[in-house]
Amino acid sequence: MQELLHAVRDALLQEYALLGPLGFWKTPVAMSTPEHAPSNQDLFGQPQPPPESAPADPYARIEALIPPESPLRAMRTLDEVARYVAETVLIPIDARRTNPVFGVGNPEADLMVIGEAPGAEEDRQGEPFVGPAGQLLNKMLKAIGFEREEVYITNVLKSRPPHNRDPQPDEIEAHLPILYKQIALVKPRIILCVGRIAGNALLGRNGSLRALRGKVHDFHGLPVVVTFHPAALLRNPQWKRLAWEDLQLLRAHYDRLMGTATR
Ligand code: URA
Repeated sequence: MQELLHAVRDALLQEYALLGPLGFWKTPVAMSTPEHAPSNQDLFGQPQPPPESAPADPYARIEALIPPESPLRAMRTLDEVARYVAETVLIPIDARRTNPVFGVGNPEADLMVIGEAPGAEEDRQGEPFVGPAGQLLNKMLKAIGFEREEVYITNVLKSRPPHNRDPQPDEIEAHLPILYKQIALVKPRIILCVGRIAGNALLGRNGSLRALRGKVHDFHGLPVVVTFHPAALLRNPQWKRLAWEDLQLLRAHYDRLMGTATR
């Protein structure tokens, strides 16, 4: 009998050594993870350090998109980046602007709004979205409970393209690292891109606005909603209903992220 008890004990000890504490069996092991959930847990649900080649948080991942040789890499504050933008000619339109248009708003905003490029009024004042489109943007934000001052607003391009022409691919490529750095420093929880050009530039896509809007995209772990540019809504008020749906989608996702959803 004694021998039998010893044999059972040895078998249990061996199993424990292989599988860990018995509590393991009570720990539900996720059989599937959501599409974008970080796989930073081991089989037993214990957090694991991220592999060295893959930076852990979205902001580190986005910062890693900046070319290693760019001076932006070493910058630590938005003021430092704004000074760099003001002093540097990266593309010909930088030399022709009246003012650089860097960004405005809460430097610790949970929501970042990204437009395409400054227009005439923005170029004159050095602030994004101050013309008629800016007035409508303020109303769009207010409709979902945000004041202009509590979000961070910027553009893909920091200089006005002449005659308000579309930004060119080489201009977008040259200025995108500045936007990546702004995201890495502000650390928004969610991003709203207004217009096809801003959405495509950030997400690295080449789609129609129809393909981009109406959903929550994943940008290196950060949720991104794309909707109509307010200037387009001023010209086409019939699109406002669809824009309202996008804004509600953004607000619902934001509330879920912040734990303030009512259901
Ligand atoms: N349109 C934009 O995309 N950005 C501005 O700042 C103004 C108009």
